[in-house]
This record gives sequence, C-alpha cells and structure tokens, in this order.
Amino acid sequence: MYIIFGTSQSIARGLSRRSDDHASIRSLPMTTRLLVLEDDAYEYADAVKDHALDDLEIIVSSAPEPTGEIPEVDVMLARPEYAAHWLEVMDTVKWIQSTWAGINPLLDVTARKGIVLTGVKDIFGPLIAEYVLAYLLNEVRLTEHYKKEQQSKRWSQRRPDTLQGKTLMILGTGSIGSYLGRMAGYFGLNVIGVSRSGARVTGFDRVLTVEEFTGELPCVDYLACALPDTPETANLLNQDRLCALQAGAYLINVGRGSTVDHTALVNLLENGHLAGALLDVFPDEPLPTDSPLWKTTNLAITPHIAAVSYPRDIARIFAENYHRYSAGEALLHQISVEHGY
Ligand code: OXD
Repeated sequence: MYIIFGTSQSIARGLSRRSDDHASIRSLPMTTRLLVLEDDAYEYADAVKDHALDDLEIIVSSAPEPTGEIPEVDVMLARPEYAAHWLEVMDTVKWIQSTWAGINPLLDVTARKGIVLTGVKDIFGPLIAEYVLAYLLNEVRLTEHYKKEQQSKRWSQRRPDTLQGKTLMILGTGSIGSYLGRMAGYFGLNVIGVSRSGARVTGFDRVLTVEEFTGELPCVDYLACALPDTPETANLLNQDRLCALQAGAYLINVGRGSTVDHTALVNLLENGHLAGALLDVFPDEPLPTDSPLWKTTNLAITPHIAAVSYPRDIARIFAENYHRYSAGEALLHQISVEHGY
C-alpha cells in the first residue's frame, strides 16, 4: 500500500517540488508510517513505491529542520544531516535508513534514543572506482596536455605514463575500497589495502593494519582514502605521513575531509613533493570561497559528487530492510555505534 500523505502544512512547506501535490489519501490502521526526508523526497518516495511494499504509508519532506507539526512515524529514510535535527523532536521512530554512507550526524541521537540506524553499503564502489580511475587515467595519459596541444594544432609526441606496475594504496577495505581495488587490479596496479584489522580482502594484493602502513608510504604512487569520519581517522594523513609518500605521488580523498591535514597537503603540492591531489570531501562543505585549496597548484576539487546517492539504489536497500523490519528480522548494514560505521 503506498500513500503520499502531505496535507499537513508543516510537511508541505518542506517540499522541494510538486508542492501542488498534496495527495493525502487516507490513513490505514496497522500501517508502518515512513518519513522520507531528502532534497529529492518525491523521487525517493516514487522509488520506494516501485517496490510495492505492503502496509506502508509515506510522508515526504525536504525540510532540513522540522517546523510546525511533527509527524508521528515509525521509520525514516533520510539524509543524515537533516534527520539529526528532526529526530531530536521525534519520539516514535524505531528505525532510520540513511540515504548517505556518511552517517556521523546520526550517531549520537540514534544511540541516545535507541533507534536502529542502517547505512548504505555495496552501491558506491563502482562510482568511486570510476571517479578515482578517471582521474588517474587522465593524469598518466596526459589528457589535459593533449587537449591543449590540439587547440594549438601541434603534433608533438610526449610519452604518456601508464598505471601498469604502479602501486595504489587504499585506506579502507570495505565495499568501496575493495571494489576500487579490484578495478585497479584490472589496470595492472599493485593494490595495497589498509584497515583496522589488516585482514585479507578480495581486491587487494596485501592488506596492512593502520599501525603498519606508514612504513610503506615511500613506495606508494597513488594514495586513495575511502575512510569514514571517526576519532581514529581524524588527521590520519598528517604532515609526517604525507611527507613520507614518495616524491611525485598523488593523493585522492573520497572519504571524509577530516582525515587529511590540508595545510600540509597545500605545502607539499606547492613545493612539488606531491605531483597532484584530488579532493571530493572537506571538513567544511561547501568549501569556503576563501579556502587556499581552491588555488593550490595541481589540486583538483570536486563538490562531494564522487558517489552520489541515486534514489533507485537506496530504495532497493530500504525495501530489502523493510521486509526484514516487517518480519522482525535483523536489518542489513546496521551501524555499530562503537565503531561509528
Ligand atoms: C555519502 C557520500 O556519505 O557521498 O554518501 O560521501
């Protein structure tokens, strides 16, 4: 059963589009009430609807913070930074499915209120792999250089480099890191993973622990960071570790901005120790216009788009978990409050 319930003015005010669509239909007894809270809330609701889930009543909002009447719902499918505000004033929610991999804003409130928090896994690997490999391939195959040469109608054969035989170290061996590792292997890269446990994972030639990886940095050509924001990962790539990378190395960060010492990174790019860096994530987003990062030599910046959430993918995870929730079974991708991911 699918119902968009949107008559409440406070909810309707939060809608980003289709604000004319106040399709309040009816309330059913014994239904599960879901609040979809996202910028594209209606797209998410439509994607959930495609799964024809039983006994589900859907309320939508795109409001970053709650205003006015607060809906009583059992379940949320929500953007973490918005939901963190809403949950402070909601008392009925039992389970929240995040639409983002980064669930940090929700850790405290869900732990305090005993709400089950489930994350997003197994869908971002291909997107992150495209992002990282597109950058590395463009760098070694001199794409920018040859674009400029073409503009000047110049036929000058500068020899491109190759990824084959180079070493890529990936911080984080979860679903994202291991997918990237597998794809990188197809390009002939040696792939080293780094994780808390150092346990072997498909996609990596070797996996090191966090205690071990510093010693290998002088052999790394490309360092890709796909770590969550936790107390252990904060400033992990500090000045000493970034300096330890071999001259001419590249850094790519698709995890969280808190992992990298940006002052050290700027210095190492400006003095030429590092050949380049690609950052998709920052401690403050949007990146402030006065940040020196915007103008740093050989630094490429993207606005947190390496792996965006597509409603159809997130809805698939929600639907699978909804069946489990309805059957009283354990949910997939539950976040460990202890580890923070
Ligand atoms: C996420 C991200 O958290 O894109 O989903 O970083």
